[in-house]
Amino acid sequence: MRALVLAAGKGTRMKSKYPKVLHPLSGKPMIRWVLDTLSSVAQEVGVVLGFGSDLVKKYLPDGVRVFIQEEQLGTAHAVMCAKSFINPNEDILVLYADAPLIKPGTLKKLIEEHKKGAEITLLTAKLDDPTGYGRIVRRGDKVEVVEEGELSDEERIALKEVNAGFYVFSGAFLLDALPKIGRNNSKNEYYLTDVVKLAQRVRIVETSDPLEIVGVNTRKTLVFLEEVLRRRKIEELLESGVTVIDPNTTYIHYSVEVGIDTVIYPLTFIEGETKIGEDCEIGPMTRIVNCVIGNGVRVERSECYGAVIEDNVIVGPFARLREGTVLKRNSRIGNFVEVKKSIIGEETKALHLSYIGDAFVGKNVNIGAGTITCNYDGKKKNPTFIEDNAFIGSNTSLVAPVRIGEGAFVGAGSVITDDVPPYSLALGRARQVVKENWVLRRRGEE
Ligand code: UD1
Ligand code: MG
Repeated sequence: MRALVLAAGKGTRMKSKYPKVLHPLSGKPMIRWVLDTLSSVAQEVGVVLGFGSDLVKKYLPDGVRVFIQEEQLGTAHAVMCAKSFINPNEDILVLYADAPLIKPGTLKKLIEEHKKGAEITLLTAKLDDPTGYGRIVRRGDKVEVVEEGELSDEERIALKEVNAGFYVFSGAFLLDALPKIGRNNSKNEYYLTDVVKLAQRVRIVETSDPLEIVGVNTRKTLVFLEEVLRRRKIEELLESGVTVIDPNTTYIHYSVEVGIDTVIYPLTFIEGETKIGEDCEIGPMTRIVNCVIGNGVRVERSECYGAVIEDNVIVGPFARLREGTVLKRNSRIGNFVEVKKSIIGEETKALHLSYIGDAFVGKNVNIGAGTITCNYDGKKKNPTFIEDNAFIGSNTSLVAPVRIGEGAFVGAGSVITDDVPPYSLALGRARQVVKENWVLRRRGEE
């Protein structure tokens, strides 16, 4: 089956400078929801782009064919722009990129129904509030879709069955019908829905799930669906063996995976391509974005972006992990410690007030409070190497590039500019001076 996705519109009602279909829903651009769903339904996918097409192209999976609608003259015109994609001997699924929650099973049902013999098969739903949707109008055994702007006031209230915006067409019928459509309507657009009244044989599949057909035209609808997905995700996690203590204050993207017996505390955000193992404690007040976390990990009141955290690591409270951080098994990153693009070895601890950037830290290293890797020389970033079992005294500056050898000690308060050989002690600070009775002498002078 071929599928054509219409995504050329600006989305005027979003009042945005970006194309509507790129607005994210649960962290994923709207158009990707539709395209990901199609991957199990259609073998060939085409997309009609227009407004912001160069931007949208960046978010398309490989193999999707792109057609350009230079001027957005309506949904029928958009389909016309992909005329070469329509094969007269084949059926084609046409859908809109602004209806992200459609289920693959429903699309398959639509395709099956169409095989019973029809020129068009439509998906519909009965909505308590049908505002904004085209309505299904039955005249005898003929079916029409009438856009909201063309309805009378009474019809607008009375007609509850809406056009969901998912169609299977016979290719030959569609190619024949499209050129016959005019734009004599309230929006002065070529409406795809106008082909319905040209068909002799229309089949209808009605879905009982009104959420799967919601079309996002406004930000209000976007955040409505965001909340739907948030609730749905938490529900699924609870059912799968994850405790989410407070569903009201927990935000978890749909793409996130969490293992059983993990507990997620309130005010926590878990986003993007994050995977969390079993028996973890996450939160409260934590944000985790695109991280891979093992089993038995604790992260409290911290921000973690693009980090890999292995089993039994403890992070926080008040830690910040940035892109490219790897925390090996049993390591600990404590309060007010920032780690960027660094590997922290097994059993290694940095528990207080540190910045560790571009560093390769071995096993069982102790990084004292206030240790700073001075990784930036004003031009480029330089690496710091700290080998296994080294001890870095508190308030040390490690001026990179620099290497602290295995088992070496660095005295507190040192500024280390030269490599420290294994098993040696390095002191890089002024020798202490004591002047006995200095205070008393000064008092005498006063
Ligand atoms: C459309 C349907 C309506 C249906 C509703 C379901 C038409 C005329 N109306 O209305 O019956 O109930 O969807 O959500 O089809 N697009 C283009 N080129 C254009 C215009 C639109 O590619 O020239 C794309 C948009 O990017 C969007 C989709 O088509 O993804 C639908 O357009 P939109 O303006 O949202 O139509 P609705 O008013 O929602
Ligand atoms: Mg729409």
